[in-house]
Amino acid sequence: MPATAPAVDNDRLPGGVCPGPTDWSASLGVVAGYCTLILTGAPLTARGADIASGLVRAGWQVRVVVTPASVPWVDGDAITKVTGTAPQREARTAGQPKAPRPDVLVIAPATFNTINKLAGGIADTFAHSTACEALGAGTPTVVVPMVSGRLWGHPALANSLRTLQTAGVRFAGLQGVDGAPRAVDSEAAGDIVASFDPAWIAEAIRQLVKSS
Ligand SMILES: Cc1cc2nc3c(=O)[nH]c(=O)nc-3n(C[C@H](O)[C@H](O)[C@H](O)COP(=O)(O)O)c2cc1C
Repeated sequence: MPATAPAVDNDRLPGGVCPGPTDWSASLGVVAGYCTLILTGAPLTARGADIASGLVRAGWQVRVVVTPASVPWVDGDAITKVTGTAPQREARTAGQPKAPRPDVLVIAPATFNTINKLAGGIADTFAHSTACEALGAGTPTVVVPMVSGRLWGHPALANSLRTLQTAGVRFAGLQGVDGAPRAVDSEAAGDIVASFDPAWIAEAIRQLVKSS
């Protein structure tokens, strides 16, 4: 890992930045509320239906939003079967009902591009606009970075991770709920994707709510 790699410590989130638990937190695990799950252009998106399923099992009503670059990895039929709704790539058209505001936002995987866009407030696709709006509204947010070693040392990433951490975002690792995000070895990406446990995300949400 390059020396400039940012250190992320979820236990040192600044107090008071993250909004406190709302009324759904008392019923986590029963009917937790609405969750928007954003899938981006990295291999973990192939597990999108499993990730959605883990959230549904934890009691969340899940809506999946995808970036244009994620599409090659997205199994739309499997996601629709799990969530009851097709993954959404474009904004609704006039006349279509508004989706409910999410009680929690999950971005898993989050690419280098998406992490930097979210931190920089760039809302140039429906997915990035959804993410920026949720963060701007103080929605509890869990991000699972999937970034290769070649990009991990880029100075923009360190700044973006810091910005998001300051905004109250909780990071979950690809190799365990408590693992701080770190660069992905491209050679090992297949194994990392296969062994990723979607339950880590539900656990990260629980920890985020508990610590706020
Ligand atoms: C096969 C393949 C694998 C990729 N894996 C990653 C990855 O693990 N992490 C990453 O940040 N970008 C990865 N990319 C590059 C992103 O897909 C690209 O930067 C894209 O613009 C991300 O857009 P999004 O953040 O809007 O989804 C990969 C691209 C390809 C073609």
